[in-house]
Amino acid sequence: MAVYLDHNATTPLHEDVLQAMLPLMQAMVGNPSSLHRFGRLQKDTIERARQQVADLVDAHPDQVVFTSGGTEANNLLLKGMAVSADINRIALSMVEHMSMLEPAADLGDECAVDYIAVDKDGKVTAHTLEQAIKPDTRLVSVMSANNETGVIQDVRALAEIAGRENIWFHTDASQAAGKIDVSFKDWGVHAMTISSHKLYGPPGAGALVIDKRLPLHALLHGGAQEHGLRAGTENVPAIAGFGVAAELAKKELSERAAHTLKLRKALEQGLAQIPSATVFAQNAERLPNTVQFGVRGFDGETLLMQLDRMGIAVSSGSACTSGKTEPSHVLKAMGVPEELALSSVRVSFGRDNTIADVEKLLQALGEIIDTISKSAVMMAATV
Ligand SMILES: Cc1ncc(COP(=O)(O)O)c(C=O)c1O
Repeated sequence: MAVYLDHNATTPLHEDVLQAMLPLMQAMVGNPSSLHRFGRLQKDTIERARQQVADLVDAHPDQVVFTSGGTEANNLLLKGMAVSADINRIALSMVEHMSMLEPAADLGDECAVDYIAVDKDGKVTAHTLEQAIKPDTRLVSVMSANNETGVIQDVRALAEIAGRENIWFHTDASQAAGKIDVSFKDWGVHAMTISSHKLYGPPGAGALVIDKRLPLHALLHGGAQEHGLRAGTENVPAIAGFGVAAELAKKELSERAAHTLKLRKALEQGLAQIPSATVFAQNAERLPNTVQFGVRGFDGETLLMQLDRMGIAVSSGSACTSGKTEPSHVLKAMGVPEELALSSVRVSFGRDNTIADVEKLLQALGEIIDTISKSAVMMAATV
């Protein structure tokens, strides 16, 4: 049986989520904007999901704007704020997901973008944040937890620093929600991104949770859905599935965290026996399910392909741009040497993984490292 260790990329649908979605897909009738009973039933389904999602992140349901996912929520936030006459300069961390970095790069002349550095553990510190803030900075964005390294940021402390300067604060909690406690209220943020398919919900649903005072403009125009912030007929089954997934995530949070942390620790103990392996951001507080490591002298994509051949699915941190493999921007920002960064592999556990999966991975890694090292020695001997 193949072993899936790539839950930060996407999670399988929770059985209860599927059961909640099936009747809506089989017998869905009625547009949620319609005033008749069919429409009202659809609307009620959406409102139930809004409450469930709000509960997961400790926000008010009125603050939840449903989108098609984390990418759209991040684009809505950045592009929807940058059009405001008042927002001419923003700052975001260097380790954000591409769905933040790419729209930021696309803002053009109307909005300047500054990048907040991280330390060698991948953390934004009070010092690096303060250094990036300029007198005209109006929005700061720092993700709650990183998708590659799993490093958790001290969002509450960072939001407080920004708050002292009257700067809006956004956090992309796509990876954090469902894995650690997330509180919109307690953290004192003004906007938060969440994604359904990272917490056992369906893909194609997500949310931007907002402080109603945020100067946010819609990107999609048409109907008045989502308080006028996201026009278009809602994907009711996906939103309902997202809601159920959020409710389950809240209920099972500590159980899931304890289970995946046990697996993470077992993997890290095993990796400690491999002299060429380095766990990235080892000293930082990290998501309970995530381990990113490098194996000196190896290529991350080769490791990924070899593991895949042996029935184990992981991810590599590098990106293939124009035919050339680039090291992960996250590891680069942490000062990891390029060669080591190119050897990176990310393992992200989920609720269905077992200790046997960890053992299988460690055994497979050992075999791959042995085989490749031996063939390298033979090649060297023949030249
Ligand atoms: C931190 C982070 N933000 C945003 C996204 C994008 O979310 P979605 O796939 O729902 O568009 C991801 C997905 O990998 C992510 O890891």
